[in-house]
Amino acid sequence: MPEELQKDPLTRGQFLYMGAVGTMMGLALTVPPAFFIMDPALKATIFNRSDIPHVWREIGSIFEVPSGEATAFRVTFPQKQTYDSGGPNSRVGSLTETALASWHDGKIPDLVKKRSEGATFSKSEVRTLEKNINVMSNACTHMGCPVRWDSVHHQIVCPCHGGIYTINGMHVGGPPPHGLWRYVFRIREDGIIEVRHKWVQGTPWIV
Ligand code: FES
Repeated sequence: MPEELQKDPLTRGQFLYMGAVGTMMGLALTVPPAFFIMDPALKATIFNRSDIPHVWREIGSIFEVPSGEATAFRVTFPQKQTYDSGGPNSRVGSLTETALASWHDGKIPDLVKKRSEGATFSKSEVRTLEKNINVMSNACTHMGCPVRWDSVHHQIVCPCHGGIYTINGMHVGGPPPHGLWRYVFRIREDGIIEVRHKWVQGTPWIV
């Protein structure tokens, strides 16, 4: 074989240089798209930011929360499109969830029994009502399946793996690690319950 063909066509320095250029090009082509794709997850988990604006949404009236059971209310929040960076042409979508509401231990407060729909409550009465009602996410704390009220056994159950919660949302059986998440909520003086897309502790799987 001729001698020049036996020689290494690249010097060690050239080889290292080409390797470094190749690595830089690889990073340039993969890192920005990876950050773009993961942007919503990074915002939510690292910066604790949400695509849902800070708005209050009505879910229903306290007069619709029955005695002895947890009842479901649908609630829809506006939601920025996931990869929309904002600005005048920003589009707004929506996100619909289900909140479960129940009176503590299922007992309607006397304050409510004495009134009927259309009544108004004073500020101190509203505070009392807020202390006596549960406003919970219906997302199971195990893996997020929608829980529901079981009227036979008087408990909240999860159809996926058998999680069980009390009417107050406390975990009493099955794999869920803790009780149901609770919405940040308020009751208006006309008895309407409003929630924010925010929870007292932790964040449901649905987010
Ligand atoms: S998702 Fe509810 S028990 Fe597993």
